Amino acid sequence: MIDIAVFPVGGMGTRFLPATKAVPKEMLPVVDRPLLQYAVDEALEAGIRQMVFVTARGKASLEDYFDVAGELTAMLKARGKEAELAVLSQTQLPPGDIAYVRQQEPAGLGHAVWCARHIVGNRPFAVILPDDLVQGKPGCLKQMVDAYARVGGNLIAAERVPHERTGSYGIITPGATAGNLTEVAGLVEKPKPADAPSNLAVIGRYILQPEVMAILSEGKRGAGNEIQLTDAMAQLIGKQPFHGLAFEGVRHDCGDKAGHVIANIAYALERADVGPAVRAWLTANLPK
Ligand code: UTP
Repeated sequence: MIDIAVFPVGGMGTRFLPATKAVPKEMLPVVDRPLLQYAVDEALEAGIRQMVFVTARGKASLEDYFDVAGELTAMLKARGKEAELAVLSQTQLPPGDIAYVRQQEPAGLGHAVWCARHIVGNRPFAVILPDDLVQGKPGCLKQMVDAYARVGGNLIAAERVPHERTGSYGIITPGATAGNLTEVAGLVEKPKPADAPSNLAVIGRYILQPEVMAILSEGKRGAGNEIQLTDAMAQLIGKQPFHGLAFEGVRHDCGDKAGHVIANIAYALERADVGPAVRAWLTANLPK
């Protein structure tokens, strides 16, 4: 059973400057909800109750977002704004269900995950990168938790990417495939297309065994001189079951400007309140 999820939100978000100068990337909205809200909702749907945010300097608004907004709530109550109060209540989890740790330097995704080691302890855990927004029902993590109940071990969400884009991802050396699960025979971080073992990429959803923390403790630097989660996971291959899940759904890379705009359109089109207006605008303005 997976009951804890780590959300590494310590990155600098340089691809989204200037917006991320003062607003954490994870707080950028898709339609009207911050990316982090989608990620937390996906974890809740998967049965996870304990959230660990690995934050950094300048990310205090994340903590405020999930806190009680006393004055705002009182004002909405006084004005009888029931709909708005219901929307606000979605941002609140029971006290103690969110823990925060600081990543003191942006030393890489592996380092961010390692910062949560004392809270995670000796149990399997999920990792969610909020900037990978996966549109699908059930959510990607719920699909993974269901698959984990069958195969155990380590599980990563996998997606085919254009071959020329392998340098932006952790890439899987695929082993045997059964249905939507592929054995992971190897992992390499950001290989050049010529060196890539496949075009099967790891996206921002993981279920990992606690042994990965001991490997991360060694602090070995990899691609970009960062402590890479991919390198630590690679050391578990052959020692524990390790699978990639071809999840159902559409992934939007919201750490990328175009990906973020596309996600806004895709999510807006699904919504009853704003969907019709957005669709009408697109229909009228896109060249036939
Ligand atoms: P990215 O590779 O997207 O890096 O991190 P970034 O700093 O957030 O953004 P850019 O590339 O500068 O625009 C992938 C995920 O890993 C987290 C990020 O917050 C994001 O969720 N991360 C990355 C950390 O938490 N700490 C790090 O040191 C690096």
